[in-house]
Amino acid sequence: MKVLVVGGGGREHAIIKKLKENQEIEKIYALPGNGGIAADATCVNIGATDLDGIVRFAGEHQIDYAVVAPDDPLVLGCVDALEAQGVPCFGPRSEAAIIEGSKVFSKNLMKKYGIPTAAYEVFTDAEKALEYIKTAPIPTVIKADGLALGKGVIIAQTREEAEEAVVAIMKDKKFGKSGNSIVVEEFLEGPEVSVLSFTDGKVVVPMISSMDHKRAGDNDTGLNTGGMGTVAPNPYYTEAVAQECMERIFLPTIRAMNAEGRIFKGCLYFGLMITKDGPKVIEYNCRFGDPETQVVLPLLKSDLLTIMKATTDGTLADTPVEFFDKSAACVIMASKGYPVAYEKGYEITIPEEIADCVFVAGAKKEDGRLLTSGGRVLGVTAIADSLKEAIDASYDMVEQIHFDNAFYRRDIGARALKAKAED
Ligand code: AMP
Ligand code: GLY
Repeated sequence: MKVLVVGGGGREHAIIKKLKENQEIEKIYALPGNGGIAADATCVNIGATDLDGIVRFAGEHQIDYAVVAPDDPLVLGCVDALEAQGVPCFGPRSEAAIIEGSKVFSKNLMKKYGIPTAAYEVFTDAEKALEYIKTAPIPTVIKADGLALGKGVIIAQTREEAEEAVVAIMKDKKFGKSGNSIVVEEFLEGPEVSVLSFTDGKVVVPMISSMDHKRAGDNDTGLNTGGMGTVAPNPYYTEAVAQECMERIFLPTIRAMNAEGRIFKGCLYFGLMITKDGPKVIEYNCRFGDPETQVVLPLLKSDLLTIMKATTDGTLADTPVEFFDKSAACVIMASKGYPVAYEKGYEITIPEEIADCVFVAGAKKEDGRLLTSGGRVLGVTAIADSLKEAIDASYDMVEQIHFDNAFYRRDIGARALKAKAED
């Protein structure tokens, strides 16, 4: 069997490593992949949003199954294009990927179907948004409608900040067309939980829960990033919370998408906040999270390809999805200056014995050497019987890895450990 994976970050590396456990797969291609993924798959220099190039490649290489991992090709219709060529895919079609592609769509969906989320208003006119902000409760949250590389959300602590955000998004078009509409929403408080789920449009099977660490600095200070580390499971996601989420959020979302004629198949990611009024949806993603995948998939006991194919075929209800009863921690090693400006091209050294625990996000191979090429460079994952052991083992490995200008948060999992202690 020949499998194609679209994407080239740490998440895709984790997906590919897991897929490789299936003996039926003889070849995995990564488009475009990266210098680290090249150790586990054949990387081909076709960009993740080059839909024509991807479809052509799939045809030329008799691809049997494709996994489309990142948000932008999904929203652009990569699955639709591959399916039209007869290639079965893991991932939603464009009409369903809109659940991440448009915040206005997802907020309206939640309102229409009574799915708990922050109260909100939608604006397409900057002046009206500015008028509204004069009396809105502060802090307030401003979100660009479309995809914005994870940077389209501004938590404004003052009215001035809120005004600046509206001007930057709607007038200065900081995120381009993504800012034609905005959502202004209620600021929620509480611990955050990421729940990735498999769905075939009929049933929804949540994976083990996880916790992301979005800010660049220790103790959740500094700028928002794509994620500086993760742990799984998330101690705030208790049995009771899980049950409530299934009844009030997961199943209603699948049913809502069906009722809208937008059947979602693939990985639906629920970004949740556990507020004092119960769990609420902060965001939906139409894909695996990054770096959530780097802790969730290593804990998956069942075969990933079998589950993925079941989401495509609509047979998920009959497919076992089991996780190891263990904990995982992933520490992201980034380049100093991320998420703003950083240098690239530094050599990375990883001891052979731990290479299997390293998911490469931003590195290229040059003359046999692995060089940094992105802000987030590596995700170092450890699995252990307890969360504390997993965190310690992950930091132990981080200390054995070297590249110039490396930086990482020192407190990945600290909040989760504290929550467990208070349990
Ligand atoms: P997103 O890019 O949608 O994941 O949002 C980034 C982060 O902003 C989330 O992980 C939350 O920490 C925060 N956030 C988003 N919406 C809200 C909200 N309504 N209230 C409080 N924090 C929020
Ligand atoms: N880690 C958050 C995301 O993948 O959007």
